[in-house]
Amino acid sequence: MASAKKRPGSKSPQIPKANHSPTKKHRPNPETPADILKQRESLAIFSVKEKLLAKIHAHNSCIIIGETASGKTTQLPQFLHEGGFSRQGTIVVTQPRRVAAVSVATRVAQEVGTELGQLVGYTVRFQDVTSPATKIKYMTDGMLLREALGDHLLKRYSVIVLDEAHERTIHTDVLFGVVKKAQRVRLKRQLPPLKVIVMSATMNVDKFSNYFNKAPVLYLEGRQYHVEVLHSMEPQTDYLFAALVTVFQIHKREPPKSDILVFLTGQEEIEAMVHTINDIAKGMPATCPRLIVHPLYASLPSQQQLRVFQPTPDGCRKVIVSTNIAETSITIRGVKFVVDTGMVKAKTFSAISGLDLLKVQRISKAQAWQRTGRAGRQSAGSTVHYSLIRISYRLYTQQEYRNFLDDTIPEIQRCNLASIVLQLLALGVKNPASFDFMDKPSGESMKCAFTELQLLQAVEGAGEAVCLTDLGRQMASFPLDPKLAKVIMASKDLGCAEEILSVVALLSVDSILFTPQQKIEDAQAIRRKFVSSEGDHITYLNIFRAFRGLPEHDKHKWCYENYVHYRNLNTACNIRQQLRDLCLRANIPLKSCGQDMTSVRKCLTKGLFLNAAELQREGTYITLGPVKHKATFHPSSSLFGCKPAYVLYSEIVQTTRCFLRTAFVIEPEWLYETAPNYFRQSKGANR
Ligand code: CDP
Ligand code: MG
Repeated sequence: MASAKKRPGSKSPQIPKANHSPTKKHRPNPETPADILKQRESLAIFSVKEKLLAKIHAHNSCIIIGETASGKTTQLPQFLHEGGFSRQGTIVVTQPRRVAAVSVATRVAQEVGTELGQLVGYTVRFQDVTSPATKIKYMTDGMLLREALGDHLLKRYSVIVLDEAHERTIHTDVLFGVVKKAQRVRLKRQLPPLKVIVMSATMNVDKFSNYFNKAPVLYLEGRQYHVEVLHSMEPQTDYLFAALVTVFQIHKREPPKSDILVFLTGQEEIEAMVHTINDIAKGMPATCPRLIVHPLYASLPSQQQLRVFQPTPDGCRKVIVSTNIAETSITIRGVKFVVDTGMVKAKTFSAISGLDLLKVQRISKAQAWQRTGRAGRQSAGSTVHYSLIRISYRLYTQQEYRNFLDDTIPEIQRCNLASIVLQLLALGVKNPASFDFMDKPSGESMKCAFTELQLLQAVEGAGEAVCLTDLGRQMASFPLDPKLAKVIMASKDLGCAEEILSVVALLSVDSILFTPQQKIEDAQAIRRKFVSSEGDHITYLNIFRAFRGLPEHDKHKWCYENYVHYRNLNTACNIRQQLRDLCLRANIPLKSCGQDMTSVRKCLTKGLFLNAAELQREGTYITLGPVKHKATFHPSSSLFGCKPAYVLYSEIVQTTRCFLRTAFVIEPEWLYETAPNYFRQSKGANR
């Protein structure tokens, strides 16, 4: 077997092995309660149940460390419930990602044998599947933080489990402080105690233990297969191509049911890869197993996400093409081969330039090992093992790997903090800069956040005397970036809330445009009727208006024909509905501005003015922040090929260059009208 192994990304074809021809027998695989019990009992956490419960009884805070798939997320909350911890309140488990919250809640409801939303439920942004009967509640960390705005002491919860703590998302990091304080205050006021459990994949834990008042650390024994690691011999210039070649090398060589997990960076890349793999698979010899290819990324609808968990039928092979979601948040049984491109799309914020960039970049060494480990999980429940070999194909050289950072930088140290500062102020934290952070964000990025909030008129005062304005308080009630919350607030005066709600909802979902690689021209030609010379935001609105005007039964077909995403448009409808309710609560009249889109663009300017860019002589754009970035319109933008003098963008992405992805045209005087002081100082629009 070992001699048949090829270096990742090498291009010579492999001859499929005859003795690995697929079996014809198909095993339908609905899990019976007995199967589920067997699977539960096979998890590492099962054998230490009583020990865990005793420790949690004895201490207010505990830290649980265990390899992914040892059963932390799915089992511990059930243990706590069975152990009586839900008598005085709900057990809440936070997840950094929506997909994990939904899929785990679904799984646990199935394990418990109740309908989702009853004993077991979940709450994610714009979706609440809980009831008064809910005792085990999975929630995104962002949603729990939002809930804390209304109830600083989180009184309805008896246990708060902060899961996936190693991910160090900005919301989890803030929750650490919020939960720690709630625990202390509840103790002081003799309210029912709050248990705090921090769970994480393997990592250095001293810092966590110290932060949580020297909380005891419990380690779970992992049951991990040995995984062989293969690095590329040469650096890969095209990681997508290298990944594709590697998938088919594995596929031609390995027996069925040895599933493959591929790590890419984002939705578009993943959808394109799924498509290409399916295309190539059609031409494979009959001796190869049938390929079942699943995409997996955060914004994929829950139903589709859950498909990755379906057991691989006999004679088939599953390929999951995923973002870093599958690194720790989600475990898919049966994966034996990992194809790791070494890339991840991550938010990076530069306090110097004030730019929040979504950037494709190298992973950390810790992430590389998490990815590798995904091939080594036990395939509990699956019956056939043709081979025990498990390999992680790293599409980067050993030398490249040595240059990776050891650990991923906590999000709080690489994100725009405006939203967090606004929330901390709304939480009653007097001086957000001195908040009890586990790792303090830099002074510059704090300052940058205050400046942004000041410019948005959400805060006033300075230093320790900083406080929310009325506007700021209202902005904090929207689960949105402060810039977009400001846009909604501004629609009150400009009389265009109807349109603005749609635009903001559309900006809150992934791209509504669906452009398959092979059909780019077709898609663009068909969508031309929606394209507005005023920019993407108006184009999106045109699509949305057409979509909403259709009878329900025509929508699917219409989306297919017009190359737009039904799913994302539908999600936008739901989000809009919820934003509408929040608007009514904030006394914003739902007026429409009809067909003239000038007020819509003016209104968007009120929140997005910091994202201005100016046309240069040579035809590119320069951003007008303190640091100038050179950018061009993304080919998918309505403004691609146009040259308006000034634009505002919602999203800037950096790959090989900077691209303005979603942008609209403005008049420069709108900038001065909105923020006269700011634009007087900066040169660009001041001519
Ligand atoms: O949290 P941790 O990574 O320790 O493990 P877990 O998420 O509780 O997963 C334990 C087991 O449950 C794994 O073997 C998963 O495959 C399985 N599981 C599942 O079948 N369906 C889910 N939606 C989640 C987990
Ligand atoms: Mg987990």
